[in-house]
Amino acid sequence: MGSTPKHIALIMDGNGRWAKSRLMPRTYGHTRGMERISSIAMRAKSVGAEYLTVYALSSENLIKRPKDELEGLFNLIREYFTNEVKKLYDVGAGIKVIGDLTPLPCDVRELLEAGEKNSPNNATFTLVFAVNYGARGEIARAANAAIERGEKVDEKTFGEFLYTAGIPDPDLIIRTGGETRLSNFLLYQAAYSELYFTKALFPDFTAKHLDKAISDYLKRGRRYGAATENTEKI
Ligand code: FPP
Repeated sequence: MGSTPKHIALIMDGNGRWAKSRLMPRTYGHTRGMERISSIAMRAKSVGAEYLTVYALSSENLIKRPKDELEGLFNLIREYFTNEVKKLYDVGAGIKVIGDLTPLPCDVRELLEAGEKNSPNNATFTLVFAVNYGARGEIARAANAAIERGEKVDEKTFGEFLYTAGIPDPDLIIRTGGETRLSNFLLYQAAYSELYFTKALFPDFTAKHLDKAISDYLKRGRRYGAATENTEKI
């Protein structure tokens, strides 16, 4: 048996299909999805995880989704960061945001930055929002940052240039919605992550589904390339 995943990452897929099956607009599915985030985060915290990273908007979504859907997603960020984050702070959870915030509407960007800045210093758990995030872009940006600093990087130091600097690699990546791909999410960090795919559409994904994913994870042997289990992480 392994130990509790320290960092869980979540690809929140299936909102559109969930809404479509109810003859509702896609944004309705995103809204119901948003309403799941805090309870899943609290469950992750209560089982001992220190980080939950949620893929809220990919850099491809920002380019390819219709304007009205994007505006709906921005409104959800506005709502969540105005009303929900304080409740997280109250239970000792903090917020971090990863991704390129520059093309976002100014007020959305400011809310995301404030959510991070106002987080409690003594947080024992961090909810990480990936917003306008793409792993390839993150890696290219990190490479340029290293070049600008005139530094050569290796496997140990490259991570310091990524958005996730200081955050341990995800132990477990969960994707809801039945697709079995990573969709440009945490590609560098996922080198030794355990992957878990569920058909549950994100608005239906509950703490019980999270428990199931974690208990599946706990049965796996992590070898990090060695011949025997539970060897040191690289
Ligand atoms: C993918 O489902 C999901 C998204 C593109 C957005 C996920 C965002 C949220 C759950 C809410 C965000 C809220 C905050 C506060 C950041 P899809 O639309 O691709 O679903 P489909 O595959 O069924 O079409």
